[in-house]
Amino acid sequence: MSAKLKIKNSKLKTSPRRAAPKRSEGAWRKEVERVLITEEQIARRIRILAREIERDFRGRETVVVSLLNGTVMFLADLIRHLNLPLRLDFMGVSSYGAGTESGELVFTKELRLDVRGRDVLLVDDILDTGRTMSRVLPKIRALQPRRVKICVLLDKPSRRVEKVTADYVGFEIPDLFVVGYGLDFAERYRNLPFVGVLHPHVYKEACKQICQK
Ligand code: IMP
Ligand code: MG
Repeated sequence: MSAKLKIKNSKLKTSPRRAAPKRSEGAWRKEVERVLITEEQIARRIRILAREIERDFRGRETVVVSLLNGTVMFLADLIRHLNLPLRLDFMGVSSYGAGTESGELVFTKELRLDVRGRDVLLVDDILDTGRTMSRVLPKIRALQPRRVKICVLLDKPSRRVEKVTADYVGFEIPDLFVVGYGLDFAERYRNLPFVGVLHPHVYKEACKQICQK
C-alpha cells in the first residue's frame, strides 16, 4: 500500500508536463569570475583519459588510490568509465595553509588496501607545486607496488617546485586559482559542476580576515 503511494508520488514529481526547475546560478556568480572548463569539456576529456588508462592497466591487479577530498567528483566520473577490474582506496591529505598557498601537509587517512605487487593509479585533483605528490609518492612506493602512475584532472606546470610529472592529465591550465568540480577554496565551491576561476576579491577578503587575527 505504502509502496504504491510512493510510486504515485514519484510519478507526480517527474511528470513531463512540469517544467524542470532551472539551476540557480546566483549563489556563485559574484564569486566565480568565469568558467574555465565546462561540464561538457570535462566529461569528454574523462572518456578519453579512461580509454588511455584502460589500455595501460589491462590485465593488471589495479588499485586506484585517490587523495581526499578534492578528487571526489573527478574520481567518481573517471572510474565509472574505466572498464577494468579494480580496487579503490583513499588517502587523506590536507594542507593547512592560509589563502591560496598550500601550507603544512598532514595525513588524515592512511591506505587500508594492500598495494604490494599491484599497479597503483594515484588520482589527485590538481598538480600545482608538486609538494603533495612528492610527499605521497614515497609513502606509496614504500609499500612496494609493481608501479605507480599518476592521474590528475588539472596540471599547473608553471607553479612546479618539485620534480613531479603526471602520466595522465585532464587539462593543463595557467597559473590561476580555480574552484569547482571537487576543488575548493576554504572548503567551499567543491560542488560546482565546472572548473571556474575564483574572483581574486574572494581570497583577498579571506586573507585580510586571517591576517588581522
Ligand atoms: P601542490 O602540493 O602544490 O601540488 O598542490 C596540490 C594541492 O593543492 C591540490 O590537491 C589542491 O588541494 C591544492 N590546490 C592547488 N592549486 C589549487 C587551485 O587552483 N584550486 C584549488 N586547490 C588547489
Ligand atoms: Mg587536494
